[in-house]
Amino acid sequence: MEKFIIHGGARVGGVLNVHGAKNSALPILAATMLADTPAVIHNCPDLTDIDYAIKILEHLGCAVKREGSDVTIDPRDFNCCEIPEELMRCMRSSIVFLGGILAKANKATLSAPGGCKIGLRPIDLHLAALKKLGMECNDCGEVLECICPNGLHGTRINLSFPSVGATENIMLAAVTACGDTVIENAAREPEICDLADFLNSMGAKVYGAGDKRIVIEGVKALHGAEHTVIPDRIAASTYMAAAAITGGELTLKNVFPMHLTSVISAFEEMGCKLSVKTEELCIKAPERLRRLKAIHTMPYPGFPTDSQALFMAMASVADGTSMFVENIFENRYRHVEQLRRMGADIKVDGKMALVNGVPKLFGAAVDAEDLRGGAALIIVGLSAEGITEIGEIEHIDRGYEAIEKTLSILGAKIKRREFNESGAVR
Ligand code: EPZ
Repeated sequence: MEKFIIHGGARVGGVLNVHGAKNSALPILAATMLADTPAVIHNCPDLTDIDYAIKILEHLGCAVKREGSDVTIDPRDFNCCEIPEELMRCMRSSIVFLGGILAKANKATLSAPGGCKIGLRPIDLHLAALKKLGMECNDCGEVLECICPNGLHGTRINLSFPSVGATENIMLAAVTACGDTVIENAAREPEICDLADFLNSMGAKVYGAGDKRIVIEGVKALHGAEHTVIPDRIAASTYMAAAAITGGELTLKNVFPMHLTSVISAFEEMGCKLSVKTEELCIKAPERLRRLKAIHTMPYPGFPTDSQALFMAMASVADGTSMFVENIFENRYRHVEQLRRMGADIKVDGKMALVNGVPKLFGAAVDAEDLRGGAALIIVGLSAEGITEIGEIEHIDRGYEAIEKTLSILGAKIKRREFNESGAVR
């Protein structure tokens, strides 16, 4: 069992290249199987979720070669339309393979996806949309048996919520469907645009990604292409938070500040000085962070739910009381109990949390219960007095490339340690 051990108090600062976006790379990897020739994906982050996506592609018959952050996928031997339960359970994004497998083979067998336990996370919107495109399935048992008896046909789909995963699944199923598909109330996240850019470079005709309405003209076939994944906006905001809470000054390179507009405003509200160039961003922290009036998480371009825990970590030691309203997931305050163990003063009432900033938090033994909540514990640990020991760090490894190495280079005192069953260091 591995843990992070953090000695709080060191400033985080310097220059950092942000890795590629997990939530872009995952659907892009799923899209590669649609082609009839190999694709090369650059800036693909080295994360456990990416390892799972590669395992799924290999299980489906694709040949995958990884060299650093370049991944080459040859889909020519695609020969399987089933994803076994152990691969489905590894992550939420396993569900975005459904649209692609249907597009490729007109049938698919898979079970419910796993992922962070941050809410109910149903897949009803995915299934309803794919049914409109021509899929039939028995969606009541543990295993989903899906077939498209007459292939996939373009249609109009009005999403009741702009689900990121459902929008991606529809795009993957619709690009080679017969006729045109219109997605109304589509998700507008940068990762949707990145997927559309990749699909279009493969020969697809996807228009309007980034807007509420996406139009997809079905094409007969797709070919392989080269693509560079966009920088990870949530990893960027995590490292900015590390600098902000420790009084540091950090320059991020390989970052798209335009994807971080709502987050940049929140850092400014807390008293940080930001300077922004096209692909570079510099943050300088104040002596003490100020409170945030109110953070309401919303679909993009609103404030991202994935950054909520990070800002709650900072608000825990800011001057004043901050309010948070989590509108996307029902169970995304799991880090609160852990932050309280470190001395945070947080009251939760349904979707709302009130954080009364205290001058200092104290190191404690805590557990990462999900990816971003775990990252928030690191952020607090960096500024806390004493030693913070974080368990269940496999959640954090799903979304950050060697976060302890990155933070150490930036001046933090953080180490990964292997413990045995009785709790002794190995
Ligand atoms: C994506 O999850 C991201 N994951 C999440 O990032 C992110 O928090 C989320 O979008 C919102 O931005 C990936 O891209 C791999 P949704 P996704 O479908 O696609 C409800 C991280 O930390 N919903 O937009 O699963 C759902 O329950 C992760 O990197 C339905 O009700 O999010 C939620 O309340 C965690 N039925 C809301 O919509 C459905 O069929 C938003 O979910 C689908 C979703």
